[in-house]
Amino acid sequence: MYKNVLVTGGSGFIGVNLINYLSKKKYKIFNVDKISYCSTKEKYKKLNKQNYFFFKGKIQSKLLIKKILRTRKIHTIIHLASESHVDRSIERPFEFIKQNIISTTSLYSSIKELLKEEKILNPNIIHISTDEVFGSITKKSASESYTFFPNSPYSASKASTENIARSFVETYGLKISIVRLCNNYGPYQFPEKFIPTCILNSINNKSIPIYGHGKNVREWMHVLDSCRALETIMNNFENKVNYNIGSNVTFTNLQIIKTLKKVLKKNIVVDHVFDRPGHDLRYSLNSNKFRKKFNWKPKYSFKEGLEKTIKWYKKNNSWIKDTLKNYQGERIGKI
Ligand code: TYD
Repeated sequence: MYKNVLVTGGSGFIGVNLINYLSKKKYKIFNVDKISYCSTKEKYKKLNKQNYFFFKGKIQSKLLIKKILRTRKIHTIIHLASESHVDRSIERPFEFIKQNIISTTSLYSSIKELLKEEKILNPNIIHISTDEVFGSITKKSASESYTFFPNSPYSASKASTENIARSFVETYGLKISIVRLCNNYGPYQFPEKFIPTCILNSINNKSIPIYGHGKNVREWMHVLDSCRALETIMNNFENKVNYNIGSNVTFTNLQIIKTLKKVLKKNIVVDHVFDRPGHDLRYSLNSNKFRKKFNWKPKYSFKEGLEKTIKWYKKNNSWIKDTLKNYQGERIGKI
């Protein structure tokens, strides 16, 4: 039996990778995506179209969401749709609050209304969040019960959607598991983010802009490891059980450049540029709960994942050309 899975934001970075990954298995996938500046167009999807259905539209559209839920017997919703770039949230905080908070509330409201009308099965919802809700972690790592301390409009909007998710479980009986991921990298990541910036600039012999001193620490995981983890959660779903999922692999931004130099075997010039306002110094997730419960660990080492990703960016010129229509490497995030 095929499981029907609704992915919101399935044309974004993690969404495209997740859909490609799930479509090789026994799932019927329904993607709702409004298609924004950083979306991957349908023509780049390499998958079995028999198991895949695309609905271009906003998750705020109750008409669209209700139509899908009424007619498609959705077993699981993986809610990925989100504005996600911190620098853009610094320039346009209101947009992030509007997009992330209103769209999530609207999606969950549609489900709540259908449940009241008893027109659907109550779907399992995997609500995707981020390590950034915990803010900068000075020591050790943040477990699931760590206090929220968001420092950017982006992370504040994500912390808010977690609270909204929780309220819809308690008040209206939705079934939600919240999953916080660390920094992901891999194919189809829009070039405004750090790893694609590093790869594309060094391939094109351009310097790499490093914000401030470059000693900010991030936990990096290949996106396919996130996809594997999400599939595990989907198939072992428990309402109200939340997970932090990270690689335990942390690097400063300057250490990433060092690894890239080794992998590409070329000199890379860095350019120390003005720092991001409110720049979090360190993210680190404690993902022991998930790892122990499912005997899980990431498959890809950072070096291996980076090599694979570089290969992908070297091979996918037309995809890169498409992104250039919306972004040409300019600095984002001025106050
Ligand atoms: P980013 O990819 O934006 O992810 P995050 O959500 O973790 O901020 O940035 C990762 C790190 O890289 C972060 O410390 C900011 C830094 N950075 C640069 O130094 N230069 C850049 O051009 C970008 C995009 C990010």
